[in-house]
Amino acid sequence: MVVNDTIIKSILSGLDADVFEDSTILVTGGAGFLGSWLCEALINLESNVLCLDNLVSGSIDNIHHLQNKDNFEFINHDITTYFSFDKKIDYIFHLASRASPFEFSRFPIQILKANTLGTWIVLGITLKHNSKLLYTSTSEVYGDPDPSQLPLKETYNGNVNPLGERACYDEAKRAGEAFVKAYITQHDIDARIVRIFNTYGPRIKSGNLYGRVVPNFIVQSLQSKSIEIFGDGLQTRSFSFVSDTIRGIILSLIKGNSKGEVFNIGSQDEITILELANRIKSLINSNSEIKFLDAKPDDPRRRCPDITKARTILKWQPMIPLDDGLKTTIEWFKNKIVQ
Ligand SMILES: NC(=O)c1ccc[n+]([C@@H]2O[C@H](COP(=O)([O-])OP(=O)(O)OC[C@H]3O[C@@H](n4cnc5c(N)ncnc54)[C@H](O)[C@@H]3O)[C@@H](O)[C@H]2O)c1
Repeated sequence: MVVNDTIIKSILSGLDADVFEDSTILVTGGAGFLGSWLCEALINLESNVLCLDNLVSGSIDNIHHLQNKDNFEFINHDITTYFSFDKKIDYIFHLASRASPFEFSRFPIQILKANTLGTWIVLGITLKHNSKLLYTSTSEVYGDPDPSQLPLKETYNGNVNPLGERACYDEAKRAGEAFVKAYITQHDIDARIVRIFNTYGPRIKSGNLYGRVVPNFIVQSLQSKSIEIFGDGLQTRSFSFVSDTIRGIILSLIKGNSKGEVFNIGSQDEITILELANRIKSLINSNSEIKFLDAKPDDPRRRCPDITKARTILKWQPMIPLDDGLKTTIEWFKNKIVQ
């Protein structure tokens, strides 16, 4: 619980979010990694949280400590089908979507549906309730970017393979963005989009079904197994700790002049995957070997956001250095593995 308190405190630091007090907020994907931290922060801001999730990649474990709160309700539902709410919904955060590259080849249709049909359903709720909406898109909309475009600005249109293995995710998110844009154009709804770059932290899943690179490297290192790198390891990413990403998401919704905008939310500390593996290995003092596997098709070579827009309009920037975030995440996994 100490980790929880520290992360929530870090999310809420400097956040003037009185607007949420007594409001009703729908969080789709609220039992997932990011969604559960968002729900927990919103509960602390005295709002009434409706956490809607069908648990395909999320877990009740992420929210069980919230279920006894008066201002929290869990709704087990698939957002790609209609759902009606009795209460007026003031704010919506739409996060529901599988997000691990391991899921792209196993569940491409579900991923496409969550971001297209699911976004369309959410937009209908937004319209009906006159809610304020935030849609969580991804850095994947930029695909494998032209190096001359780095760091990536929101104005870059990306380089995406519409028939590639990642298309179910990146094209679905692009379609989700187009849906949001269409509802803004046609119905003048109050919506914004955040393009989240790789985020890690406690509650993220590991393993070859739902895992991502940071948790997988941590668990492989803790268990003295080979650290598996896809490709030569020279591809880059920039990793944001969960408290920074969630604070950015909340600010994107509450800042007055964010209607109709799209924001990159991510860290600018670009690092190669090989460096990341060595960093985690050394923080854990692990004797794991590094093993290189075949590269994943269409895996972006470089990824790093330009966050000038979020800095300027939202007054947001990441606060947690990579090593600090990794240490917290490592401790969390140590406790989880021991349990
Ligand atoms: N974590 C990151 O690094 C990252 C980066 C970019 C974008 N995002 C986006 O943020 C959102 C949350 O990602 P996450 O990392 O927490 O992933 P996650 O898999 O932990 O959470 C996603 C949640 O959505 C739920 N879900 C999926 N399909 C659903 C459906 N049809 N109906 C209801 N619930 C459904 C899952 O059960 C899960 O709880 C996703 O939209 C993802 O694309 C995350």
